[in-house]
Amino acid sequence: MKAIQVGLLGIGTVGSGTFNVLQRNQEEIKRRAGRGIEITMVADLDTARAQAAVGAGVQVVADARAVIANPDIDIVIELIGGYGIAKQLVLEAIEAGKHVVTANKALLAVHGTEIFAAAHRKGVMVAFEAAVAGGIPIIKALREGLTANRIQWLAGIINGTTNFILSEMRDKGLDFGTVLKQAQALGYAEADPTFDIEGVDAAHKVTLMSAIAFGIPVQFDKAYVEGITQLGAQDIKYAEQLGYRIKLLGIAKRRQADVAKGMADGIELRVHPSLVPAKRLIANVEGAMNAVMVHGDAVGTTLYYGKGAGSEPTASAVIADLVDITRLHTADAAQRVPHLAFQPDAMSDLRVLPMSEVVTSYYLRLSVSDQPGVLAQVTGILAALGISIDAVLQREADEVGGEGATATDLIILTHDTVEGTMNQALTQMQALPTVLAPIVRIRKEELV
Ligand code: NDP
Ligand code: HSE
Repeated sequence: MKAIQVGLLGIGTVGSGTFNVLQRNQEEIKRRAGRGIEITMVADLDTARAQAAVGAGVQVVADARAVIANPDIDIVIELIGGYGIAKQLVLEAIEAGKHVVTANKALLAVHGTEIFAAAHRKGVMVAFEAAVAGGIPIIKALREGLTANRIQWLAGIINGTTNFILSEMRDKGLDFGTVLKQAQALGYAEADPTFDIEGVDAAHKVTLMSAIAFGIPVQFDKAYVEGITQLGAQDIKYAEQLGYRIKLLGIAKRRQADVAKGMADGIELRVHPSLVPAKRLIANVEGAMNAVMVHGDAVGTTLYYGKGAGSEPTASAVIADLVDITRLHTADAAQRVPHLAFQPDAMSDLRVLPMSEVVTSYYLRLSVSDQPGVLAQVTGILAALGISIDAVLQREADEVGGEGATATDLIILTHDTVEGTMNQALTQMQALPTVLAPIVRIRKEELV
């Protein structure tokens, strides 16, 4: 059978990996797909560099629309990135009846509803395995492998740059700025590294996973996003002393209504630094590696680990999508796996909960005057609001501030509480004259 013809838009890091792996493993891939898969046309702004990367046998153009307009192209791969031209090109490719493969999590998290609706209307596939956790087949696992389950929650280290930064800060005691520069030099960071360090990239990815896990629309605008820029080295150290590590987690959790506690049902969708027990496997995911835990009611807790970025790891996911499309593109559209795992007319309108309604536990660090009664004042506020304390750690003032210091650090771990209640406690504690600096609050996840 004639090879399926693929047009590639953007041959940078992931595009070149895709071309190379497809070439190198073409025989093996053909045996799996049932026919050859060939990139026959490439668009890139730098045509000379692109032609050098693919050799003389492949047509290279500067205008991506020429690829979409080519009637011989069956599948278009979008590897340009961003929401601008990439969005127009993806929608134009769908309109032209082409299947689309993309690694563009930003585009799908923000404009996914529009893009999937357009694809559904035209009966084409939009595949995006590479958009979440690079080479880890987490989309396939959630959408197909775990299809028997009612997913309860998922939590992942889904940004390699921030995991690398946190690992280096903990291991080598380096400060944030120094490690960020290393991460950029190593090529882990997005074109705009604020997307990594402010948690936006992780929020794009967890938004996509939440849609597939719970059958809800992609709602990036409802996700709570907090990055790692405010994390202090001392909190990483204290967490370790208490048996925890700090990781930037993307969390999507189903919450059952609890009428007695006045809690409605809904979905928690959040990205923020979290204390994780050091004994959990995920706490030991170091460097730029990614990992995602998924808890289903039938299967229990599962863990997926691997490289979340890089040229060939990400290409591995792009090509898996190419193979899926090659196998399925002649199938009746109604028989294919739905883009978001659930049938489009069976999506749920479960509400994404505001952060004030989220339930979790907390690490608090208070810089306080080292004088009698301070601990009682602080714990009194927590008790009055019904917040239960799990552990308390107080350092000697000398140890924190040096010889003769009069202030010390008071670290408190709490049990689960509603975030809105914790916010009230923080306001009251912050107003105490004995609390000398802004209180540090980091959420804590036991992940069981
Ligand atoms: P790169 O910047 O390395 O590659 C993008 C390529 O697209 C560049 O060659 C660029 O050319 C080209 N390009 C830009 N505008 C156009 C245009 N209008 N027409 C044709 N080509 C164009 O990005 P990556 O390969 O790193 O990322 C691609 C996508 O994959 C992004 O969505 C990213 O978020 C995602 N991703 C990346 C991962 C990674 O490890 N890098 C991992 C997972 C996902 P020029 O350089 O001349 O501007
Ligand atoms: N900047 C991203 C990361 C690349 O650090 O994980 C992969 O999406």
